[in-house]
Amino acid sequence: MIKKKNSEIEKDYLKKINKIQKLNKAYYVNSKPIVEDKIYDELKKNILDLEKKYYFLKNEMSPSTSVGYKPSKNFKKVRHMTPMLSLGNAFNRDDLINFEKKIYNFLSFNHNTKIEYSVEPKIDGISASLFYKDGKFIQGLSRGDGAQGEDITENLKTIEDIPKDLNGKDYPHEIDIRGEVFINNSDFENLKNKFANPRNAASGSLRQKDPKETKKIPLRFVAYTFGYSKDLKIKNQFEFLVSLKKWGFKTNEFNKVISGIENLITNHKKIEEQRNKIDFDIDGLVYKVNDFNLQKRLGYAANAPRWAVAHKFSANKSISEILKIEIQIGRTGALTPVAKIKPVNIGGVLVSNATLHNEDEINRKDIRLGDTVIVERAGDVIPHVISVDKKKRNKNSKKFVFPKKCPSCGFETIKEFNKITKKFDAVRRCPDRGFECEKIAIEKIKHFISKDAFNIDGFGKKIVESFWAKKLIRYPNDIFNLDYKVISKLEGWGDISVANLKYSIETKKKITLSRFIYSMGIRHIGQENAKLIAKNLNSLDNFLSMKNQLDFRHLLNIDGIGDTQIISIQNFFSNKKNLLMLEKFKKIIEILPEEENIIGGIFKGKTFMLTGKLEGISRAEAKSLIEKNSGKISSNVNKKLDYLVIGDKPTIRKVNEAKDLNIKVISQKDFLKMLNFKDF
Ligand code: IVH
Repeated sequence: MIKKKNSEIEKDYLKKINKIQKLNKAYYVNSKPIVEDKIYDELKKNILDLEKKYYFLKNEMSPSTSVGYKPSKNFKKVRHMTPMLSLGNAFNRDDLINFEKKIYNFLSFNHNTKIEYSVEPKIDGISASLFYKDGKFIQGLSRGDGAQGEDITENLKTIEDIPKDLNGKDYPHEIDIRGEVFINNSDFENLKNKFANPRNAASGSLRQKDPKETKKIPLRFVAYTFGYSKDLKIKNQFEFLVSLKKWGFKTNEFNKVISGIENLITNHKKIEEQRNKIDFDIDGLVYKVNDFNLQKRLGYAANAPRWAVAHKFSANKSISEILKIEIQIGRTGALTPVAKIKPVNIGGVLVSNATLHNEDEINRKDIRLGDTVIVERAGDVIPHVISVDKKKRNKNSKKFVFPKKCPSCGFETIKEFNKITKKFDAVRRCPDRGFECEKIAIEKIKHFISKDAFNIDGFGKKIVESFWAKKLIRYPNDIFNLDYKVISKLEGWGDISVANLKYSIETKKKITLSRFIYSMGIRHIGQENAKLIAKNLNSLDNFLSMKNQLDFRHLLNIDGIGDTQIISIQNFFSNKKNLLMLEKFKKIIEILPEEENIIGGIFKGKTFMLTGKLEGISRAEAKSLIEKNSGKISSNVNKKLDYLVIGDKPTIRKVNEAKDLNIKVISQKDFLKMLNFKDF
């Protein structure tokens, strides 16, 4: 096969991009389409096909990254005063019970205490944050990556539902009002040929460079929360929603206050039935603990609040047939069986893979090759097999035998024993031996470049696989030592794309410690734990010097780190390949300060230890209060300890040890007084 020159492919692609831009301009700017929809669609498909085939092709004007005419990367980036976070999902009763249980435990509430929720439809649009100072709309930002958004003030000003001046007098001096920008389904009818769905239409027009373009599309805005605020006197979410209306915002007519899981479920069913009659897309309901005081106490875990959840609408289901069962190997060595099924359309999406979760699940449901199965697709979650129609099963079918050896490296797989549940794990694993197993190594590198880790622009999973196959990478650090000469000769790579890649990689050498720790892909060390460890260790050298430690128990002082995490960290540092990799990173990366502003709280420099049962507050909340106020937590009495907080039935030995060391022993009441808490 003659290799078509990359420069030729790029040239041809750019020509098509140019053409589509002209067509877009004619449609959006001049409102005078110059070709039939069919021709436009063909050109669009052509571009998308090219991008699929040659992954180096990328252009900000491509219909895959933008919609309409000139959405721009030129918007000014602005840091949100309070990050714009996402929500955890709940799909069924169990998820909701779990959500509420965590809240009760955290708050140490008994079940006679009722929790009220503000219940709001979750509109499937684009969120925006609007800053008002003394009632005047000053600046509007897109969500961006949650930490930084784009300044799209002028575009937002074109939306009628967004008040330029707030009504009344009782608004706070300063406030970020947050809500959803969306488009009504009836308005989308006229835009059907240009956008895949209403959400894309809203997002595309909101990010037009020219606000006049935004104005042409009937965007709407519904407000539902706030970020930063100064002097907000409101006590709960529902009252806040009422105030939003008074100030001139539109709020959702389906908003209400409900308590009790069963009542939430009844309401969910009712709204889901009406869903098709509503003129905009909603993909579930959002439940927020109504009381702002409780919200504050509950706080946030990693990227989402503990006080809110999105209860998604039920999944779509379809019947299909299992053609093949493949075993995938994940970053942590988990062997996940995946069913290749006869493609079926489930809720508008063609599904041909469905996860079977793990070995136990296959055995429990007795899933076999050739079986007729019901497949479910819920939200953005991977489709899964719910049940087997055994009546339709072929008499000759045989039980599926799960491989006992890793299909990638051939190593004996294991099932771990959980000391707490006293059961064997449902998941079979290839034991993680660093980078010995090819599949695990590839997955580790994919994790390394992923969004929440090193986040290297333009370096996707497909490139990891291709570079691996070409033996260009074996370890994450190889990414910083690529042979660009070799890459530029590879099919699909041109000078421009190589230069872009090099640039993206170079800019990511500066990274926060928490991201770096997370990127190592240590099992059980997710983003939240990585942040906690980074905060505790404070420097790359401290992290690297852990290799000299046999005992990692001091990490138990960190709230959230338990035996499971310690064992995992120990395993990581006992592997020579990992150590070698860390040594190399020491010479490559430079540590940046953490992304969040750690403001010196009243417990700065102070270490606390808790003993005995606390009253009206859980241990988790007490720990979180200490950390929120910049304090540290210790799990044993030592000289560095400043305060031992005693609850009911404390461990006498600990109290005596503390007294011997002249450490202040204080009651729970004293502790809460220090924080100005009057509620307990
Ligand atoms: S509250 C931390 N309320 O859902 C609080 N979000 O996955 C997060 N959304 O980015 C936002 N309707 O775009 C909230 N009534 C509602 C919402 C809502 C839609 C979207 C929003 C957010 C995403 C969270």
